[in-house]
Amino acid sequence: MTYVVKDNCIGCKYTDCVEVCPVDCFYEGENMLVIHPDECIDCGVCEPECPADAIVPDTEPDTESWVELNRKYAELWPVIITQKDPLPEADERDGESGKLAKYFSDEPGEGG
Ligand code: SF4
Ligand code: F3S
Repeated sequence: MTYVVKDNCIGCKYTDCVEVCPVDCFYEGENMLVIHPDECIDCGVCEPECPADAIVPDTEPDTESWVELNRKYAELWPVIITQKDPLPEADERDGESGKLAKYFSDEPGEGG
């Protein structure tokens, strides 16, 4: 089992989640974070921290493709352990549907 970041992180990136993770397994893309599924210890403490409700356990339905996306980009993007400002459009994008197709960027973030 693992927790994963889903599409509502895209375009928001509030980063409250990174401060509580005991194993530092969040990785930063240009406009979303991902969790490394092999490093996550399933503690669940990040889930309630996300203002966008973007973090879910992989026991929820329809998370298989998100586990793979999280794994793929966790291998490519830099680790992030320090909270930073959300993206400028975060509040506007929070809750919007279809964000993966509309906004997802495979570019890395800065990490830190
Ligand atoms: Fe980190 Fe725990 Fe969240 Fe996994 S469930 S990403 S270990 S805080
Ligand atoms: Fe994304 Fe929520 Fe963390 S919006 S950066 S998963 S706090």
